[in-house]
Amino acid sequence: MASPAEPLDLPDEAAMLALGGRIAGHVRMGDVIALEGGLGAGKTTLARGILAGLGLAGEAPSPSFAIVQPYDVPEVRLPVAHVDLYRLENAEETEELGLDDYLVDSLLIVEWPDRLGERLWDHALCLTLLDGAQDGRRLTARVPDGWRDRWSQI
Ligand SMILES: Nc1ncnc2c1ncn2[C@@H]1O[C@H](COP(=O)(O)OP(=O)(O)OP(=O)(O)O)[C@@H](O)[C@H]1O
Ligand SMILES: [Mg+2]
Repeated sequence: MASPAEPLDLPDEAAMLALGGRIAGHVRMGDVIALEGGLGAGKTTLARGILAGLGLAGEAPSPSFAIVQPYDVPEVRLPVAHVDLYRLENAEETEELGLDDYLVDSLLIVEWPDRLGERLWDHALCLTLLDGAQDGRRLTARVPDGWRDRWSQI
């Protein structure tokens, strides 16, 4: 069961990247991080922070056209699939991506996880980005059992 955690205020892009860096310190193979929020909410920015924290040099491209952008050791310390499901129209299309295969040895970061519907994994850490004060963002988390201790340290 996932439970809600205290919201986090992220006043600017630097705060979003820094949060990603802290999350990167806790990720493991087989984790899923689902990034919810509307267009321009900051999902890719948070993913970039995680990737940078895993050692990626340079800015990660948005996967909005590639849909799946994989990263491998040694450019990151753990394999990552960064996925953007925005352009997918139905459950069959998402199934064809074979995302389950990445869970064997990778971290999966998924933008627009609503496209997966019921097929979003139960163990996913679900982070939702909303408008915050001034131009900033506010993050709410639904934290599954496997993340509870880790999230409390973030
Ligand atoms: N915490 C923040 N406060 C203010 N601006 C932010 C914050 N985080 C990210 N941004 C800015 O928001 C803009 C959109 O960010 P980003 O591309 O990460 O959004 P996205 O959710 O991935 O959008 P899309 O749905 O189009 O993929 C960028 O200009 C980014 O710098
Ligand atoms: Mg994006």
